[in-house]
Amino acid sequence: MTLVNGLKPDSQSQHELAYICTECGTVVEPLLVEFPPRFGGSRYVQRRCQCTLQKNIDAIERAKNFERNQRYERYFSFSTLGKRFNSKSFENFNASAKTSAAVKKAKQFVNKTLNATTDEERAQGLILIGPVGTGKSHLAAATFNALKESKACIFVNVPELLERIRASYSSKSNESEEDIINAVKRCDVLILDDFGAERHKGDDDWATEKLFTIIDFRYRNMRPIFGTTNCTPDSLEDKIGPRIMSRLREICDLTPCLGEDYRSRQAFERRA
Ligand SMILES: Nc1ncnc2c1ncn2[C@@H]1O[C@H](COP(=O)(O)OP(=O)(O)OP(=O)(O)O)[C@@H](O)[C@H]1O
Ligand SMILES: [Mg+2]
Ligand SMILES: [Zn+2]
Repeated sequence: MTLVNGLKPDSQSQHELAYICTECGTVVEPLLVEFPPRFGGSRYVQRRCQCTLQKNIDAIERAKNFERNQRYERYFSFSTLGKRFNSKSFENFNASAKTSAAVKKAKQFVNKTLNATTDEERAQGLILIGPVGTGKSHLAAATFNALKESKACIFVNVPELLERIRASYSSKSNESEEDIINAVKRCDVLILDDFGAERHKGDDDWATEKLFTIIDFRYRNMRPIFGTTNCTPDSLEDKIGPRIMSRLREICDLTPCLGEDYRSRQAFERRA
């Protein structure tokens, strides 16, 4: 009988097959396996040490992480968080009564994205709705920053995303429309900042069609969207059309983020 991968052939003797692992010193006892009589009946089978098995598992895990990180880096190259929003977190957000619902929902979104066990849970998104300067983009950036280590996450400003797709049509562009659309369709979490700030020309214009392609794909494949907008749901619907809005209403929790304009308050305090 030949040796397979360094293991001794099966035997009737338990003693013969027990060995001390040269790596970790553990005594590795063989396993008694019940084979049917036509396969020789029960006998002892030598086992690999747990430490060897663990090394194999670790190697597979490292290879998986490597692949995942490569994939994430590709997605990150689509993110346009910008210098101002790189450092935003839930810790440096001063919540008020008018923003507390938005903060709570954004934190819940982070938690369920990290811990969801069902597709339904994973698919549930959020749209923060409110006037200028109430901290919607801050909370969206805080969400991105909380998820970016463990999820393929894209943060993109909607007018910039559309601009980027348009720019990809130029022969000088080094990215294709397909690259951009695939990334925003397939990433684990898509954060669309400033929804409704893009220009639409009627129901069947170019911008509506692009947004529909992206949002419908994510809707069908149960991938979450986190959005921010200055529009009310009705005025957003007027812009992006009923087909997109109906999907967003189904998969996103429309949450108000109200209060005063933090930008003017900061400017006022700086002058005071
Ligand atoms: N509650 C807050 N605590 C700390 N910083 C805040 C808070 N609200 C807003 N800011 C800061 O004020 C600035 C404006 O906020 P942000 O850009 O998030 O507003 P917005 O709701 O997205 O506005 P817009 O609708 O105009 O896009 C940012 O620098 C942000 O970090
Ligand atoms: Mg904003
Ligand atoms: Zn060992």
